[in-house]
Amino acid sequence: MSNTDNMQSNTNVLVNETQIYPGFYTTNIKKLANVDYLRFQGAFDTVITDLKNDYNKDKFVRDNSFNQSWDHIQGEARELIIKLLEMYCAAEYSGFILYKELSYQLRETNSTLSDGFRLMSRDEARHASFLNKALTDFHLTPSLEFLKKEGRKYHSLPFAWFIHSTYLSEKISSCYYINIFDHLVSHPEYSIYPLFGLYKSWSEDEDRHGDFVGTIIKSQTNLSNGLKARLVCKFYLVLIFSMTYLKYKDNEKLFALIGLDSREYYITTIKSVNKSVEKHLPVILDIENSMFFKKLDACMLHISENKKIGISNHYKLLKFIKKTPHYVALFLIMLSLFLIKSIDTQANRIA
Ligand SMILES: [Fe+2]
Ligand SMILES: [Fe+2]
Repeated sequence: MSNTDNMQSNTNVLVNETQIYPGFYTTNIKKLANVDYLRFQGAFDTVITDLKNDYNKDKFVRDNSFNQSWDHIQGEARELIIKLLEMYCAAEYSGFILYKELSYQLRETNSTLSDGFRLMSRDEARHASFLNKALTDFHLTPSLEFLKKEGRKYHSLPFAWFIHSTYLSEKISSCYYINIFDHLVSHPEYSIYPLFGLYKSWSEDEDRHGDFVGTIIKSQTNLSNGLKARLVCKFYLVLIFSMTYLKYKDNEKLFALIGLDSREYYITTIKSVNKSVEKHLPVILDIENSMFFKKLDACMLHISENKKIGISNHYKLLKFIKKTPHYVALFLIMLSLFLIKSIDTQANRIA
């Protein structure tokens, strides 16, 4: 976090401007424009009607529970909450910008998809704005310079990677929020800030976003049917679940603050995501009783060994020689992960 400016809020408390770093993404718009929504009109109508109904329109209000000073939260706990708010504020703004731009770019070529993305950008703007206000509780306000288009660096993602990562990130967010919400309902003593009380509505919004993107996947024969589609899907599930799980160590303190074991929480969340994507994807992973997470623990050990070698005082060549066995081990573990069983959701058989 870098504070770049100071200003006075209307309550005369010094507010610091803080930088957040949304990512900017794009993909092959032609492929989105060519999505044949007519063949899947019923499915698209259902998800778009759900988005239009906006069941959580009145939920994102700052009720009286926010109406107090949060200065009693100090030290590491304060830093962790601010880190959480900044991280999610950046993610929500990323989603808002991405969906808004897709909606605009598709307005003349695919009005159904354009509508869906517009409604999703509405939700992401609402989420970002709520986090923006939450940051003011900690005397911070994000710099919104990134809303100006000049200077943005866009990452153009291949269509299959874009659509799977967008879909899974929405479904992961949904499970992430609801698991924390459920935990805090049964352990209210850890509910140290009222934002968590909104996580149920938050989860529902992200779930609907996932349903919309999932419908796009289902409408693409090359992504939803056949051996190639199953292999591609399995590849993305393994990759994205692995990348998600590897973050648990970075968030151990944050989860401890709300009474959760980070590793257990990530495993529970990934397992619930795996179940929830069954309705849209051609395969899911057989991770209930497999060695999936133990293999990822082994990956983390090799990554950490390589980090230690990286910051050691050895010569470059010696560092490379010392790192090589860990790279080989990582490659073999990842390969074994891609070979784990998957469950064919259409035929409901182990493949
Ligand atoms: Fe969101
Ligand atoms: Fe979302």
